Amino acid sequence: MMATLQAIKYNDGQLEILDQLLLPESCTFIPICKVEDAWAAIREMKVRGAPAIAIVGCLSLAVELRKLAVPESKEELCRMVKEKLDYLVTSRPTAVNMQLAAESCVQLCARLSDNTLLSVAEAKGDIVKHLEARLANDVADNRAIGEHGACDITKKNATKDKLRIMTHCNTGSLATAGYGTALGVIRSLHAASKLDQVYCTETRPYNQGSRLTAFELVYEKIPATLVCDSMAAAAMREFKMDAVVVGADRVAANGDTANKIGTYQLAVLAKSHDVLFYVAAPFSSIDFQIPNGHSIPIEERPHSEMTHTGSTRTAAAGINCWNPGFDVTPAELITGGIITEKGVFKPDQLAPHQ
Ligand code: MRU
Repeated sequence: MMATLQAIKYNDGQLEILDQLLLPESCTFIPICKVEDAWAAIREMKVRGAPAIAIVGCLSLAVELRKLAVPESKEELCRMVKEKLDYLVTSRPTAVNMQLAAESCVQLCARLSDNTLLSVAEAKGDIVKHLEARLANDVADNRAIGEHGACDITKKNATKDKLRIMTHCNTGSLATAGYGTALGVIRSLHAASKLDQVYCTETRPYNQGSRLTAFELVYEKIPATLVCDSMAAAAMREFKMDAVVVGADRVAANGDTANKIGTYQLAVLAKSHDVLFYVAAPFSSIDFQIPNGHSIPIEERPHSEMTHTGSTRTAAAGINCWNPGFDVTPAELITGGIITEKGVFKPDQLAPHQ
């Protein structure tokens, strides 16, 4: 069996990430030696995708902590950990995973501080273990998402032998610790010989679909066709899609979902073509503190992503641009359900399972 693509390599306090800005031309790994390196790599999108952002952020802190001399007190240790986590959270605003990872680590710090039986060195070791555990946990969650999603989609299309799935952006091994979320569902369908074809959108303006998802699909020899975003409606009608499966950067408590710009239009199109629309995401992408999608912060990206291809200008000089990185799909358009590691839920059924 072919080894799955691995974009985050971590071994004994050494962290390297695949520089996604250089894909698909070159597979180059770069070292991440401190929290500032991770912050810059996330901001520049050398690593991107909601789960991968949190994993690289957390691992960069583990790298630093392993090298750190044991602080004088647990208070000093926890203050430093919190400061660095707060800083990492500022790297990109829409995906919630880093914020939730930071909150969980700060809660752990509070428990460690309260435990008078524990030395500072032991507390430091526990924080490192907690941060490092994200890598393996994420792959396990993704495999479960893949199984649940493939099972649900197959069941709801029981009369069909092979299925046609549309996906958007990149949600695969490059966006996670491995296997992927929406792309994990597609991998599981393929492994079960249930996939006819996956249609991946180009995902303008940053081209995560054509640069990254297409790269992963070719690498894994999964039958796939690339379409421009503007071809989605025509492709849905022409190829009679069985489901659309996308990822999430932040799911609000009511199921409204922020994901890569262009997701909302696919959900509208799916509704009018009677195609099931699924979101695949780990529980670590669900923000139960936010009641609905109106409160999700949407990142605005540089205009140059729209006006230039590489260093070549492709839009008229002087034109104004609007470049939101994400949009919000209302829960009622998520007709298939939200696929998580705990099962597939209707958008309004998430809370009891947190
Ligand atoms: O701007 P990006 O490339 O970080 O956006 C990524 C997405 O929107 C993904 O769909 C989402 O993070 C889920 S990745 C499993």
